[in-house]
Amino acid sequence: MKAIVYEGIKNVKVKEVSDPSIEKADDIIVKVTSTAICGSDLHLIHGMVPNMPKGFVLGHETMGIVEEIGKDVHKVKKGDRVIVPFPISCGHCWFCQHDLWSQCDNSNENGEVGAIFGYSNTYGGYDGGQAEYLRVPYANIGPTIVPEELADEQVLFLTDILPTSYWGVENGGVKSGDTVVVLGCGPVGLLTIKWAAFQGAKRIIAVDYVGYRLEHAKKYGVEVVNFEEHDNAGEYIKEITHGGADVVIDCVGMDGKMTAIEMVETALKLQGGSKSAIEIATQAVRKGGTVSMVGVYGARYNNFPLGDFFARNITLKMGQCPAQSYVNRIMTLIKTGKFDATDIITHKLTLDKGEHAYEIFDKKQDNCIKVILKP
Ligand SMILES: NC(=O)c1ccc[n+]([C@@H]2O[C@H](COP(=O)([O-])OP(=O)(O)OC[C@H]3O[C@@H](n4cnc5c(N)ncnc54)[C@H](O)[C@@H]3O)[C@@H](O)[C@H]2O)c1
Ligand SMILES: [Zn+2]
Ligand SMILES: [Zn+2]
Repeated sequence: MKAIVYEGIKNVKVKEVSDPSIEKADDIIVKVTSTAICGSDLHLIHGMVPNMPKGFVLGHETMGIVEEIGKDVHKVKKGDRVIVPFPISCGHCWFCQHDLWSQCDNSNENGEVGAIFGYSNTYGGYDGGQAEYLRVPYANIGPTIVPEELADEQVLFLTDILPTSYWGVENGGVKSGDTVVVLGCGPVGLLTIKWAAFQGAKRIIAVDYVGYRLEHAKKYGVEVVNFEEHDNAGEYIKEITHGGADVVIDCVGMDGKMTAIEMVETALKLQGGSKSAIEIATQAVRKGGTVSMVGVYGARYNNFPLGDFFARNITLKMGQCPAQSYVNRIMTLIKTGKFDATDIITHKLTLDKGEHAYEIFDKKQDNCIKVILKP
């Protein structure tokens, strides 16, 4: 089959790889109809996640038609159309039972945290879904059947960025009347803005430095701040909000804009990338407020502003989204027309345009926000 594979730093290729097959009795094989590229994939191709072998199949936002099922599978049958949430979860360990799906104790033989499709050997070594076919383990748990009447574009993001953005807002404790700052106007940040509004936030300030992405945020009727236009964007936000926002949601992560020192230290493996969003958050959040970190971080961070957070009684919340907890809830909102995420799709390409797709998403070219690939 054809698949997008990791060939080294900033090097992905569309290649022929062997088809997946049923390995365990509760596996299924999905014939992929749509898959997307995520900001998390950029961390991989920037070499920020260890243990990525050459030839590893990428992709953790995937849906399609069930092609084959193992003998113990009862949740889905051949021919069903399913979305596949990105965390691979057994469904019966303590963590899965307590809505911590991304922290499953059983799915990742190589580490303590739960496995993720197409996300390095550290995260379980499972091939991803930017391919023609995907093997889905624990198929009685993750895959969820989607209603016929909903198009792929409407439901594909239930695999990751819809639950992730919803959870980022919920984890931040956003309530009606709140002032919320959203750092990053990529796919995750934009959906986070929409959910914050949905939860009744009164004032939303969106931050980025990519012009066309800020323009997209403006269409939601929120205030925008280009952090490059301020010496200290965090202080500026603190000023215009009279002391800071109730909740700051970091939708940037370690690939944010780096300082020169961070670049050198990251290259020397002394630093886990950028913490530029965290620096803005320290100032932009009010005393006693919450910073909800959705953006992915790895390794360790020099000069992490722990004292600033401590002094001002800030709550920090973070992690990989337990996506399974939110799929049904959000599916209902989509079905009833109460929420729609299709406006962020800027590119629909065929899978064999994978290299180009990564290029424009990574380099923020051609006004790219979210790319969907069709095998
Ligand atoms: N926690 C989870 O479960 C989970 C799930 C999905 C994605 N993510 C993470 O969410 C983050 C965003 O994903 P995405 O697909 O939107 O990625 P993206 O790279 O398209 O978006 C990030 C945006 O942040 C902007 N940015 C850079 N530095 C900034 C700064 N200091 N302040 C404000 N904005 C800044 C960039 O210009 C870009 O538009 C990534 O780190 C991704 O790994 C986490
Ligand atoms: Zn993702
Ligand atoms: Zn589990």
